[in-house]
Amino acid sequence: MIRTIKTIILTCVATIVVAAAGLALYTWSGAYGIGADQPHTRVVTAFVATARDRAVRAHAAGIEVPTDLASEARIRQGAGNYAAMCATCHLSPGAKSSELSRGLYPAPPRLDRMKVDPAVAFWVAKHGIKASGMPAWGRSMGDEYLWNMIAFIGALPDLDADAYRALVAQSGGHSHDDGNDDHDHGDDTDPHEGTGHEHGAADAGTSGAAGPPVDAGAAPAVAVVDAFGAALVAGDLATVKDLLDPAVVVLEGGGAERSRDEYMDHHAGADAAFLKGAHVTRTSRTARASGDLAWVATESTIHTHGARPATLASSETMTLARHDGVWRIVHIHWSSQPG
Ligand code: HEC
Repeated sequence: MIRTIKTIILTCVATIVVAAAGLALYTWSGAYGIGADQPHTRVVTAFVATARDRAVRAHAAGIEVPTDLASEARIRQGAGNYAAMCATCHLSPGAKSSELSRGLYPAPPRLDRMKVDPAVAFWVAKHGIKASGMPAWGRSMGDEYLWNMIAFIGALPDLDADAYRALVAQSGGHSHDDGNDDHDHGDDTDPHEGTGHEHGAADAGTSGAAGPPVDAGAAPAVAVVDAFGAALVAGDLATVKDLLDPAVVVLEGGGAERSRDEYMDHHAGADAAFLKGAHVTRTSRTARASGDLAWVATESTIHTHGARPATLASSETMTLARHDGVWRIVHIHWSSQPG
């Protein structure tokens, strides 16, 4: 009896030793197909895929997903960074394959054609995946910017090529902190970095009274001001609200509203009704930014078509502040006179 057990144990040990030696020899021989243009064998594919999926799921388990992930401001801010940092590999609506997407193994999944669980996507974006092309973006980006990008990825499969381009244009381009400390490169005026739509201004320098009317660092704030105006004219009060800071102060016609709630409850509806379908022609604009603050002054001529068509000369100042990578309006001053 004892001899039989001994034999069984010895046989097992011998088998393991022979298998390990075989594996070591095979590894040492260099015969394994390591080229990225040659797929793994089925056994290795299954092993790597299972190990990756189990590990990602386990590591993402404790991550708390922000409750406002579907917010338009997050999605818009994330769009520019996706276009600048992810789209060469993960592609975008209407895009054909790229040199990177064709050449990498494992191939980067098309994020415009799939939904990824937000906690999983966040973990992968932050930490990357070893021995694949997927970098650890947490080395260079703060969590809030990463979440904005995850918010964008959540919306991406529902966008067509035009909607994708429009969001990227509104987003303020490639802007984020460095993920390590508090200072912020978001207001970088490097003309090569901006994919925001005001980058013509970047060429002319940014400082001093003789600078261009709209400085490049203010482009993301200007995009918010324009989106706000467009939303009012379209009667899209959800977007109007989304672009306002909760503590916004609105000065209008000699009166004041001292919070977003107060404005939304009182004047927003009336302003939208007044402007419904209005034709707004901008006659002048100046915009400046410094760090997380920007101010945008706009003069325009407004033709309304409502019950009493009117033409007004309107002037507007907006102050915007950036929190966690998102620009919102903190102050508005409107005045107008018959034009
Ligand atoms: C150089 C190419 C490359 C770039 C750039 C890149 N990725 Fe990836 N990404 C990959 C590859 C390759 C994989 C697949 C890894 C694997 O399956 O082992 C991947 C996987 C992912 C996944 C996991 C998808 C799933 O199936 O669960 C997410 C999410 C992701 N990337 C997000 C991003 C984001 C966000 C960015 C931009 C900040 C980005 N990636 C930039 C190559 C890239």
